[in-house]
Amino acid sequence: MNVTTAYKGKVLVAGATGKTGQWVVKRLLHYGIPVRVFSRERDKALSLFGESVEIVTGRIQSATDIADAVKGCDAVISALGSSSVSGESSPGDVDRDGVIRLVDESAQKGVKHFGLVSSMAVTKWYHPLNLFGGVLLKKWEAEEHLRKVFSIEGRSYTIVRPGGLKDGEPLCHKLHVDVGDRLWSGWINRSDVAELLVVALWLEKAKNKTFEVINEAEEKQVGLEQYYYTLPE
Ligand SMILES: NC(=O)c1ccc[n+]([C@@H]2O[C@H](COP(=O)([O-])OP(=O)(O)OC[C@H]3O[C@@H](n4cnc5c(N)ncnc54)[C@H](OP(=O)(O)O)[C@@H]3O)[C@@H](O)[C@H]2O)c1
Repeated sequence: MNVTTAYKGKVLVAGATGKTGQWVVKRLLHYGIPVRVFSRERDKALSLFGESVEIVTGRIQSATDIADAVKGCDAVISALGSSSVSGESSPGDVDRDGVIRLVDESAQKGVKHFGLVSSMAVTKWYHPLNLFGGVLLKKWEAEEHLRKVFSIEGRSYTIVRPGGLKDGEPLCHKLHVDVGDRLWSGWINRSDVAELLVVALWLEKAKNKTFEVINEAEEKQVGLEQYYYTLPE
């Protein structure tokens, strides 16, 4: 069943072919929002989404490719994530430089809102995850850049820092939302991360916020509706 919302803008999803990105696309389509995906592999995007979305092929290393992709979009949601310690899919190339390039080209082309999947513990340089190419430090640099560029008048951002990611349907767990990067462990479904970034497009309370999010309890709860979390003031 598709649900319509007041939000009518077109949204570019970067990292759309990833596990969280696929959920971002699904939840946008659920709300009847037009989607363009930015992917390095057209066939992969086509096999996942068919004709339901626009596809723009390009590289996150190319400012020109990104500029073409963001043109005409009202918002961008990035679910990009590195997958190797070095090279073009490294934390430096993807989580930091790729996101920073995407932020800059989006601002240049008049994008009004930018949603970013980051990570819990992103401010903790001593976290063991940093052994993987300094991934948390790179994400932190990208976050800082996004906050700087998108907190000016006429633009907004939402940064979601999830705990460990799991697969599964959205809206099955009550969520615990926190600020200040005080959480150390916890899990959340990728689908709920996607849901939060999608509703942030029209939820004023989620604008210009950076928050961590995990499941409040691991057991599934039935009958949860859209507002199954309390966003921080
Ligand atoms: N795993 C966890 O427990 C965890 C916890 C907290 C935060 N996170 C973060 O959450 C985010 C989403 O995670 P996920 O598990 O959904 O990630 P994922 O499935 O690995 O998806 C990553 C996406 O990034 C794209 N990508 C990677 N390298 C690229 C490059 N060089 N150029 C263009 N695109 C590139 C991938 O494209 P292709 O499909 O073409 O490969 C894919 O679409 C990531 O930033 C991750 O670090 C993860």
